[in-house]
Amino acid sequence: MSVLPQPRPGVLEISPYVPGKSSAPGVAKIYKLSSNETPLGPSPKAIAAYHDVAGHLQDYPEGTAAELREAIGRAFGLDPDRIVCGAGSDDLLNLLARAYLADGDEAIHTTHGFLVYPIATLGTGAKPVAAPEKNFTADVDAILKAVTAKTKMVFLANPNNPTGTYLPFDEVKRLHKALPPHVLFVLDAAYAEYVRRNDYEAGIELVATSDNVVMTRTFSKIHGLAALRLGWMYGPAHVVDAVNRIRGPFNVNTAVMMAGIAAIEDTAHQQRASEHNTRWLAWLLDEIAKLGLKVTPSVANFVLIHFADVATAKKADAFLTARGLILRYVAAYKLPHCLRLTVGSEEANRLVVKALAEFMGKSA
Ligand SMILES: Cc1ncc(COP(=O)(O)O)c(C=O)c1O
Repeated sequence: MSVLPQPRPGVLEISPYVPGKSSAPGVAKIYKLSSNETPLGPSPKAIAAYHDVAGHLQDYPEGTAAELREAIGRAFGLDPDRIVCGAGSDDLLNLLARAYLADGDEAIHTTHGFLVYPIATLGTGAKPVAAPEKNFTADVDAILKAVTAKTKMVFLANPNNPTGTYLPFDEVKRLHKALPPHVLFVLDAAYAEYVRRNDYEAGIELVATSDNVVMTRTFSKIHGLAALRLGWMYGPAHVVDAVNRIRGPFNVNTAVMMAGIAAIEDTAHQQRASEHNTRWLAWLLDEIAKLGLKVTPSVANFVLIHFADVATAKKADAFLTARGLILRYVAAYKLPHCLRLTVGSEEANRLVVKALAEFMGKSA
C-alpha cells in the first residue's frame, strides 16, 4: 500500500470557495450581478496607468509597494509604514491567519460572515467558530460568548457580505473593549466606501489607538479593479512587521500598483460610483420589497433577497439566469433560501425588478 503525502489537518475540511457565476448557457446578453463588482468599471486613469507599465515588463516590481502605500496614506491620512498591500484583501486575510493561528487555536467569525474567514482559518490547522447573528447582523454579545482560552482571532466584515448589514462604530468599540488583548481583531471593511450612515466607521481610529486591531480594504469593489487583485491593510507596527515577513516578496505587481495609485487619486470617479450606488441601492430595496419579497436592509453595494423556501430560491435563480440576470445563490453562506443581487447599471437593476415581478406573478 502506498502512503501519500498528507496536507496539514484542516485543509481537507475546506469547502473550496466558489466564485459567482459569470455565464448563462444560450443567453446572448449577460448582466453579471453575482460578485459585487461596480457597474461603472474602473477609473479611466487607472486603465491608462495599467497600460503604461507594458513597456517595462522585464523589471521586478518594487517589493514594498512604497509608492502605492504613500498614495493610500495621503488619501486616508495614514502612516504608510503601517500599511501592507496584498494581492486582493483575500491575500491579507490569509496572511493574517497564517501569521497568528496554529493547530488547536480558534478564530471566530459570524454565521453568515464572509467565507474566506473559515477557509483561511482551516488552512492553518486552527478551528473556525461561527458566532450566531441576530436579524442577519453580527451580534457582539454572541461573539463575546464564543471567546474561549483558545481564541486567537476575530474576523468581522463591516458591512458584512452577503447580508449587507453593519455594526455601528459604538458596537465595534464595545466588542473590541471586551476582547482579551492577545486576540487579533480583524475588521474587514471591503465595502466601507459605500456606507452612508453617521454611526458607521471603517475602523481607522480603532486601529490607530490599539495594539490588536487590523483593518483590511480592497480595490475590487468601489475602485473596480477586481481583476487585478489589490487590497491593503492598516495595522499596528508589530502586526505589519509579522505580515511583511511572510508575504510574497512581490505580492503586488507593478501594473497593479500603478493602477491602484491612479484609482485612489481619482476621487471624482469614486464619488460617481458611490452616488450611483446610493441611488440604486435605495431603489432596489424599495422595489423588491414592493413585490412582497423580504429584503435585508443593506448599506453596501448588494442586497440579500429572501424567498419563501429553498426550492423557490433555486427556481428564481434559474428564472433570472435564463434571462441573462446572474445573481449569487448563497447556500454556502447558510442562506439556502436567498439570492444576493449586486447593485448594477440602471438597465440591469430595472431588468432584475421586472423579471422578479414576473417571477412573483405580479407586475412591477
Ligand atoms: C467582505 C469581503 N471581504 C473581502 C473580500 C475580498 O476582496 P478582494 O480579495 O477582491 O480584495 C470580499 C469580496 O467579495 C468581501 O466580500
